[in-house]
Amino acid sequence: MNTTTTKQIAIAHGDGIGQEVINEAVKVLTVISENSDYHLNLVETPVGGEIYKKYGTNLPEKSFQTIKKSDAILFGAIGLPDLPQGVAESAILKLRQGLELFVNLRPVKLFKPLEDICPLKPEFFPSGIDISIIRENTESIYAQIGGTINHETAINNMVYTRKAVERIIEYAFQFAQRKNHQEIISVDKANVLSCSQFWREIFTEKGKDFPNLKKTNFYVDAFCQWLIRSPSTIQTVVTENMFGDIISDEAAYLSGSLGMAASGNINPSGTSMYEPIHGSAPDIAGKNIANPIGAILSCKLMFEESFQDSNIGSMIETAVETTIQKFRTIDIFPRKLELQHNLKQVSCSEMGNLVADTLKNIMKK
Ligand code: NAI
Ligand code: MG
Repeated sequence: MNTTTTKQIAIAHGDGIGQEVINEAVKVLTVISENSDYHLNLVETPVGGEIYKKYGTNLPEKSFQTIKKSDAILFGAIGLPDLPQGVAESAILKLRQGLELFVNLRPVKLFKPLEDICPLKPEFFPSGIDISIIRENTESIYAQIGGTINHETAINNMVYTRKAVERIIEYAFQFAQRKNHQEIISVDKANVLSCSQFWREIFTEKGKDFPNLKKTNFYVDAFCQWLIRSPSTIQTVVTENMFGDIISDEAAYLSGSLGMAASGNINPSGTSMYEPIHGSAPDIAGKNIANPIGAILSCKLMFEESFQDSNIGSMIETAVETTIQKFRTIDIFPRKLELQHNLKQVSCSEMGNLVADTLKNIMKK
């Protein structure tokens, strides 16, 4: 007998194209709820700039309480051009801190049908690109410790604590092992920074508990080259907050477009938040042309990481891969004329419908 699993998912559309792409991801969640043993209870939780304009807060207490009680959060993007930078966006920091989302997981996958639009020549990725970047999400230079600015000087301090470094490195080793990866790469700047030497010591120490994984250390500058030179060889990468921020945006573009990339802000023992990596894109907001796949693949991550269900995860991925063989939003539509035949350009909402229908067919088999 089948048993129904109920999950409450907080839905935070946010601003700009966040609204549009989350509408499409919700179609995918609805298909899952209607065609599997999951009962998904989707609860609207306003966050960001639009709600700030109404109520003077970017994270209403009611939203936060609902989020805390949910099994996971699906988050669009926030930020409005007519508000000062940060007024909407600081809600993300509040959620990261309030829910202790210390892992930022950023997978980078180049789907076969998109190999033609990858900025690298095919000889640079002989066996595809499928990289998982794990970024520490709470400390380092972004922790706002000792920030000062005057006419002559500006200071930001980089701080790591043993607790923060140990837990992210532990998570990364467990992740690599769970994915059956052979190697884990740690990225630092231990030739210059004390914080990085500290990081590397802890990586080496923890690594002793995972004898079957090959451990490799890279300096961040060398790794930036390696990412372009040899992406097929890279599996799990673990790094600190700032390096991770920069590397993961660079890496995301290897998948063809910013609009393709998903991410998880994860607390392995709490409520985690899944979001496309892009922002609210005011330049294209309201035009129904945004790519919703990053948001849809964020649902895949949610099932894999929060609900330990890689089966649903891989069905979502198959639905995406099948759909983009024929249909593309403008950001992943090839520029070269000879690559365009047999491809149809579609809107954001059409892409959502196509992926949802494809998923429904896969799930009914
Ligand atoms: P952005 O990611 O919104 O846009 C960068 C460029 O990529 C734009 O040209 C945009 O049109 C394009 N783009 C982004 N997502 C796309 C998609 N799904 N499909 C097709 N094209 C896409 O970054 P930007 O312009 O720097 O920031 C805009 C606002 O978003 C700002 O207020 C910023 O603070 C906020 N932001 C919010 C984030 C979040 O909510 N997690 C993350 C990054 C930025
Ligand atoms: Mg960034």
